[in-house]
Amino acid sequence: MAASSAGDVVEILTTDHREMLELLRQIEKTDDPTERRSLADAVTAEVMRHSVAEELFVYPVMERELPNGADEVEHDKQEHKEIEATLKKLEGADAADAQFMELVAELIDLLDHHADDEESDQFPKLRKHLSAEALRDLGSKVEAAKTIAPTRPHPGSPNSELLHMTIGPGVGMVDRLRDALSGRIRNT
Ligand SMILES: [Fe+2]
Ligand SMILES: [Fe+2]
Repeated sequence: MAASSAGDVVEILTTDHREMLELLRQIEKTDDPTERRSLADAVTAEVMRHSVAEELFVYPVMERELPNGADEVEHDKQEHKEIEATLKKLEGADAADAQFMELVAELIDLLDHHADDEESDQFPKLRKHLSAEALRDLGSKVEAAKTIAPTRPHPGSPNSELLHMTIGPGVGMVDRLRDALSGRIRNT
């Protein structure tokens, strides 16, 4: 089964967190503005894919299954918006400027805090309330969503709307996408 190789949703999202923070720390280790810019673009794309996948598939399950899930999701989405607003500033900053590194440091703080919230609070609750099979199924959906998610920050739009920019507008597009993805996963 294709789903078994990817790991469960908690493993996938936790690995993403480590990789995003590692990319940001690599920016701090180089003085070369070209390298800083390409690492910043890479981390921006990773954060966007990760956040959109969480909001599309993981947060709705948290809302439904976890005690106080709706409040936790509201808090998490708010933090995603803050992170995206900082990514947007980084997109427009000059990699040779001191301000660029201030934004990188700010992002490390924001992401570290957000990842810690998820890993110490919400992910253990997901493990407690979902079966191993459901966790793996959610992992497959997250991997699929990441392949089609937008890679640029748009802090003014809800992340569910961002997929419309990638795959075109249409009523119920996100629902249809979700159906298409679950069909595709079942058929592989
Ligand atoms: Fe998140
Ligand atoms: Fe996350």
